[in-house]
Amino acid sequence: MHPGPRAAPDDSGPGAIVRALVVAGWARAGLEPPADLLAMGGGRAGTVGGPDPIAHRPPVALASAALAAAHRLGSDYERQLDARSRAAGAHYTPPDVAHGVTRLVIADAPARTSEPTVWDPACGGGAFLLAAAGVLASLGHEPSRIVNDLLWGTDTDPGAVAVAEAALVLWATLSGAPDARPGPHLEVADSLRSGPPLARADFAFVVGNPPFQGQMTGGSVRTRRAREALRERWGDVVGPYTDTSTLFLVAGTSVLAAGGRMGMILPTSVLSARDAQRAREHIDRSADLVGLWVATEPVFAASVAVCAPVLARRSRVVAGSMVTPEPAIAGGPPVERWRRRGFEQLASIHREGRRWSELALAAIDVPSPRFASSGTVGSVAEASSGFRDEYYGLVDSVIDLAEEERPSPSGSAPSEVRPLITSGTIDPGRCLWGERPARFAKRSFLMPVVDVAALARAAAGGGAAARAAAWAEATRGPKVVVATQTKVGEAAVDEEGGWVPSTPTIVLRPVAGGHLPGSDAVEMSWALAAVVCSPIGSVAALAGSFGSGRTSHALKPTAASVLDLPLPVDPDAWAAGARALRERDRDGFAAAMAEAYGLDAGDAADLQGWWTSRAPW
Ligand SMILES: C[S@@+](CC[C@H](N)C(=O)[O-])C[C@H]1O[C@@H](n2cnc3c(N)ncnc32)[C@H](O)[C@@H]1O
Repeated sequence: MHPGPRAAPDDSGPGAIVRALVVAGWARAGLEPPADLLAMGGGRAGTVGGPDPIAHRPPVALASAALAAAHRLGSDYERQLDARSRAAGAHYTPPDVAHGVTRLVIADAPARTSEPTVWDPACGGGAFLLAAAGVLASLGHEPSRIVNDLLWGTDTDPGAVAVAEAALVLWATLSGAPDARPGPHLEVADSLRSGPPLARADFAFVVGNPPFQGQMTGGSVRTRRAREALRERWGDVVGPYTDTSTLFLVAGTSVLAAGGRMGMILPTSVLSARDAQRAREHIDRSADLVGLWVATEPVFAASVAVCAPVLARRSRVVAGSMVTPEPAIAGGPPVERWRRRGFEQLASIHREGRRWSELALAAIDVPSPRFASSGTVGSVAEASSGFRDEYYGLVDSVIDLAEEERPSPSGSAPSEVRPLITSGTIDPGRCLWGERPARFAKRSFLMPVVDVAALARAAAGGGAAARAAAWAEATRGPKVVVATQTKVGEAAVDEEGGWVPSTPTIVLRPVAGGHLPGSDAVEMSWALAAVVCSPIGSVAALAGSFGSGRTSHALKPTAASVLDLPLPVDPDAWAAGARALRERDRDGFAAAMAEAYGLDAGDAADLQGWWTSRAPW
């Protein structure tokens, strides 16, 4: 059978209204609407001539078709956005992901509210508003009320707002409420400056996927003026490198009614980034983290790992633009957890002092046991690491003692050589220099050493060699050398003090007056190494950098993050752990450090199982 001719779009009724809105949206964005979208509204795109399907399909059967059709408006609009909008973070959310997050926020709320208002502060083409429409409809709310009263959205892009409006009207029309309009509840505005439409500040729900705008490099870096304007509004949660999406999380929390819930898609770095720390602390003072979804697989074309914290507002006491906190419930409510695009449910957990990033570890099958701590490494040690110059400045002064025929840079036997210690030669509690080949400056060495006299001569010319020589001198003496890009914490102690640590290893040394087990610098260094190498140290390091790099499974310690590692509470068990590490007694080490951190037996067994499977002993 041949298909008949396409139905001409109806020029009256709901279809015409939807078409007019679509055309208006594209026109405001300076774009031509695609022809097949114009056929929408009066029926489905590509409808074969015949009766208007809107009028003839029962509402239940239409529910998902209505959502799908409405979502298409947003995705077609998104395809026409230019590279600048993309770079500024305009990546619309796929319907299944928007629905998944919205369900966690609205459908999983412990109590139903009669006024389930929803705001998306960066609504784009309406992916989250449509998801909210679907969830609210499934909870029994009327489509007309949903669109007229309950859904609120803001975006700086007028075209996006028009498309969101068209999408909601299309959804309402296909759901049997052709007269519903969001009206002034949709607004073209900057949410971080002007807040929600009509200055409403008591939403039951906030959902969305705000723009990710990293502040390190690129077109999304704020000007100083823009930063100052944001600081005026949001205070010290705005750091020099705070991603814009983090500020939306703070803004969203500030307009929730007591008991209101929020879920936003954010880069996973929000869980651990230093520049988001004040935002996390700010939010923790007024809301409970009650859920956390970690995607762990690609969701957007842009290769950024994402998560969605779910927050429940405790109080709504506002002083100026900032929130006056109410004390958190002791221990806090359980945190529900999910992972992957399919929202696979994981075990819930009580927060009990855990950091946001620790709660995310379950998504990558890492345990997050409860432990006791007596401060951080920063109170008893100092840490340092070399940079580019400390690396490249050494290149011409490194020789391989294993290559006898290879002359030293000076042509004669070097008077003093010091082993060059690369990250790859460090294992937990030992250094495999001379046993395992080391990569340095694109070459393989078995026994790389720094020719000290050659380095001194090169340093006389200044530049990188001078910095490298200063680094080599500054790192003489007993110390801990911490490896990077490892599966568990790996650190070895330089008892003799002759090693030259190669970038990017980290050097850790006890400070005078710090309370560490041990009677001299060597024993204290072993105590520090025990913290870094311990199963708890490994988990804490993973949590500390969770989401900040390409893979969440590797430890990427920095000098600053090593100083953040927790110290044990039991000094005797800690000293026993340090001795076991020195003697390479793996199980004795793990058991002593579990005791040192006050782990209960169940947590200790889980943690040890995980750690043993990854530790290269
Ligand atoms: C990542 S897109 C997400 C859109 C939509 N929420 C979704 O999930 O599909 C971010 C949106 O934020 C908008 N936007 C950027 N800065 C904004 C601001 N300061 N206030 C409101 N919207 C903003 C962009 O125009 C873009 O539509």
